[in-house]
Amino acid sequence: MIELKSVNKVVKNGKNTLKILDDINLKVREGEFVTIVGASGSGKSTLLNIIGGLDDISQGEYWFDGKKIIKEKDRMMLRRKDVAMIVQNFALISTLSAIDNVNMAKKDERYALELFEKLNIDGLEDKKVKYLSGGEKQRVAIARSLIKHPRLLLADEPTGALDSKTSTQLIDLLFTLNKQGLTIILVTHNKEIAQRIGNIYEIIDGKMKKVSDNDCTVSIISSNLGIFKV
Ligand SMILES: Nc1ncnc2c1ncn2[C@@H]1O[C@H](COP(=O)(O)OP(=O)(O)O)[C@@H](O)[C@H]1O
Ligand SMILES: [Mg+2]
Repeated sequence: MIELKSVNKVVKNGKNTLKILDDINLKVREGEFVTIVGASGSGKSTLLNIIGGLDDISQGEYWFDGKKIIKEKDRMMLRRKDVAMIVQNFALISTLSAIDNVNMAKKDERYALELFEKLNIDGLEDKKVKYLSGGEKQRVAIARSLIKHPRLLLADEPTGALDSKTSTQLIDLLFTLNKQGLTIILVTHNKEIAQRIGNIYEIIDGKMKKVSDNDCTVSIISSNLGIFKV
């Protein structure tokens, strides 16, 4: 589905140029669930923003479904249709109701209600977001991201503001969505979450390397944590 070939991202910072991403190569196939870990400031959000069409690349190639993403028009297409993003602080409008936040992305009342049910937040449609718990807010944000029927979900530290039980439930939910065909790239600081998902890449100072794939993760999880992948 996506392929990055020798992608570099350079930004100007006053007189200096700063290399944020350094020769990134990444292939994600349709249906995969990929995790990216790395220290704060290593370039994770920059990479997700590039994949989501929110930012451009300085050098290299970015391919989505066999199409090279070059111009703003290409990136706009990604943002509009194929790729959705959720973030740590949910990025919802807190004074609006849950359903109105979803409606803002796309007006499709019927599918919105279906999503609220599927995401286990039915009954909260008319509640203002500011009265929802963190876990509920993140589910509303997921509903808002799914209303466009995206094929790729980018999750930038989506459990960063959640307690551990709610985090586990959110990851369970992402697993379910992935099983239903959604391709997911998740950035996390949490090693346990990364190990549970597998398919781990690590970014260190803008350079990326593969840490593990799914097969070895299953054995790590079953031997160390006693949790089995569903
Ligand atoms: N537009 C920009 N101008 C200058 N520096 C930037 C810009 N965007 C990101 N950076 C810097 O690039 C580095 C990587 O940022 P980011 O991708 O947000 O990292 P992460 O998400 O891994 O914490 C950080 O040092 C950040 O300050
Ligand atoms: Mg970040």
